Amino acid sequence: MKNIVELNRLDRDCAKLLQDVKTLALVCYQWGDTGKGKFADFFASWADIIARGTGGANAGHTIKFRGKEYVFHLLPSGILHDIDKKVNIIGRGVAIFPKTLINELKILEKEGKTYNHLIISQDAKLIMPQHILLDRLKEINLDSGKVGTTGKGVGPAYVDHYDRCGLIMNDLQNIDIFCKKLKQNLKTKMIFLRNCDSESIKKIMFHKDLEFGYFYSKKNIFAIDAIVESYIKQGKEIKELICDTDFFIQASVGKKKILLEGAQGILLSIDYGTYPYVTSSDSSGDGLARGAGLCSKDVDMTLGIVKAFYETRVGNGPFPTELGGKRSSNWCRKLISKETEQKIFSYASVNSIDPFFQGIGIRKAGNEYGATTGRPRRIGWLDLPLLRYALKCSRSNNVILTKVDVLNECKEIKICNEYIYKGKPVKVGANNLRPNNILRVAVPYAEILDKCQPLYQIFEGWQDEINSSNVNELPDQFKKILNFVKDSCNLNIKIISIGPGRDDTMFV
Ligand code: IMP
Repeated sequence: MKNIVELNRLDRDCAKLLQDVKTLALVCYQWGDTGKGKFADFFASWADIIARGTGGANAGHTIKFRGKEYVFHLLPSGILHDIDKKVNIIGRGVAIFPKTLINELKILEKEGKTYNHLIISQDAKLIMPQHILLDRLKEINLDSGKVGTTGKGVGPAYVDHYDRCGLIMNDLQNIDIFCKKLKQNLKTKMIFLRNCDSESIKKIMFHKDLEFGYFYSKKNIFAIDAIVESYIKQGKEIKELICDTDFFIQASVGKKKILLEGAQGILLSIDYGTYPYVTSSDSSGDGLARGAGLCSKDVDMTLGIVKAFYETRVGNGPFPTELGGKRSSNWCRKLISKETEQKIFSYASVNSIDPFFQGIGIRKAGNEYGATTGRPRRIGWLDLPLLRYALKCSRSNNVILTKVDVLNECKEIKICNEYIYKGKPVKVGANNLRPNNILRVAVPYAEILDKCQPLYQIFEGWQDEINSSNVNELPDQFKKILNFVKDSCNLNIKIISIGPGRDDTMFV
C-alpha cells in the first residue's frame, strides 16, 4: 500500500515541479557519477522524448528498472520505458563506437525488448579503432599530465571532428564515402604512428575492445578491409535507426515533453571543466542542448545534480578536498578491483580517523566504483568553491542532492566553504591571485586548483537513517548542514535523494 501512496506522491510532486516545463535538461555539477541514472530514469517516465547529446561510451549510466539493474553507456535512459509512447534519441554530439551500441541493443533483445523507439543522429561522431589506439597510446606514453581517460577513444574522435577529418554515423550507409574518409583519416594518423613503439601498438590493437587484433595489420597497423567490413556490417544492423534527429527534436520543442540527459559533469566539460583534466565534449547544459540538436533557449529548466555531502572524481586532475590527498589518487590509479580493495581494507569506514581510510570507507558505503572502467573513484568532501563555479557556468541554481544516505553513519562531516591559495602570485584575468588569498569561487585551471587548500566548516553528522519523505521531518543535524550549503551557494534545492530506490526521493 505504501508504494502506491509513495508513487502517487512522487508523480504529483514531479508534475508540480515540471508544470511549466516542456524541455528539461539534467546535468551534473561535479565530475560525473552523481547518481544521474536514477533521475534520468525518473524523468524518463515524465518525458515523451529522451535525448542524449554529449559523451559516448566513456559514460556509464546505471539504471534500475522494475527491480533489475542495467548499465548502459550509449542508450538513453528512456529506452526501457513504454516503447509505444516514447522516442529515445542519440544526438549529433555523441561519439559512438558501433560495437558498444550494438551490444547494448542485444541486451534489450535478450530481455525481449525492442528498440523501435530509438533514433540515432546521422551526424553523431563515429569512434574508429584508430581513436581507441591513440587514446590508449597517449596515456601510456605520457610521463606526467596523464588525464586518466576511459580509453574508449572519445577524445581522439572529437579531435578528428575539429580537425575536419572525422567520420559520422551517416558514413556507415555509404561504403564509398566511408572508405575514402577512412583512408584519408588514417593517412594523417600514420605520420604519427610510424614513430610509436610497435609493441605498444600491437598490444592495444589486440585488446578485446579491438576484436583481439582483427583490425591489425603487421605492415600497415590498420587492416583497412577488416575495418570497412566490420563497420559497414554494423551500419546495416542499425540502418533503420539513423536519421535526421535534429529535425525531429526541433519540431517537438514546446509541443512534447523532452528530457535532455547529460553525461559526465560540468567540471569535466571541455569548455568549463578543470582543464586539461576534462573529457572532450561540453558536458554543461549548453553543450547538452547543442549536442541533442537544440539550443539553450529551448530549455525551460536545468536541474544540476550534486552529490551530498561528498564528491568523487575518476581519473587524474586536481581535487582539493580529496580524502587522503596524493595517497588516495595514487591508490585509485592502480586500478584495483572493488573486491580486492574491500578485502585489503575491510576495516576502513566512514568514521576512520585517517582520511585515506575514511575515503575508502565512503567509497565502500557509496559503492563508488566506475560503471565503465570499474576504477575506484577518488573521494573527497563537498567542495563549495567548485560548486559555486559550476553554478556560475550553468546559470541555473536548481539542484538535486543525491546519495545523502551514504553518510548516514558519519560522525563528523566536513564541508569545504573556501580555499586558501598557497601558490605563487599569478594573474587570473584582470585579478591578481596572491599567496594566502581566500577564494570563495574556484578558478578551474589545474595549476591553480592544485595550490588551493580547503578551509572546512565542520559539522556533527546526523547519524541516523533518513526515512522520511517530508523535509520538515529530516534530522536536525542534517537540516543544519543542508541549510548551510543551500545558503552559502544560493541553491534552489528541488529534490533530495536519500537512497537508490525511486521512492527514496523527496521533493522540496
Ligand atoms: P575520456 O572522456 O575517456 O577522454 O576521459 C577524460 C576524463 O573524464 C577522465 O578523467 C575520465 O575518468 C573522465 N570521465 C569520462 N567519462 C566519465 C564519466 O562518465 N564519469 C566520470 N568521469 C568520467
